[in-house]
Amino acid sequence: MVYKFTKDLETGNDLIDSEHRQLFDAINKLLDACTVGHGRAEIGEALDFLNSYVNKHFSDEENLQLKYRYPDYPNHKKYHETFKKVVQGLVDEYRQQGASIDLVAKTNTSVAGWLLNHIKKEDVKVAAHVRKCTS
Ligand SMILES: [Fe+2]
Repeated sequence: MVYKFTKDLETGNDLIDSEHRQLFDAINKLLDACTVGHGRAEIGEALDFLNSYVNKHFSDEENLQLKYRYPDYPNHKKYHETFKKVVQGLVDEYRQQGASIDLVAKTNTSVAGWLLNHIKKEDVKVAAHVRKCTS
């Protein structure tokens, strides 16, 4: 299964959307590797990228929220912090136990699943708020 960055995932904010695309690309790259039997070989690199890019992306999004005084910032920040721990947990598992099919599957489902849900439920609200402030 390949995760498509469909219209309903676009928030309308160029920065947020382009960073979300990068995250989707990383997951899709891992999925592509899986289809040719290279999932375990790619998982380390995928997790390194996700870990650093998720941090960059969240801080960009949080800065945007602070700049435009997004009212739900404290909660949104909490969602980010919780998810950073999930990604860190995957990285720790990789460091301690190495690559496994189970870890590859967990990475694909937990990262993609969280992102889809968070974008549709939360990030669209941020983008709408920024739009309102800038129009
Ligand atoms: Fe977010």
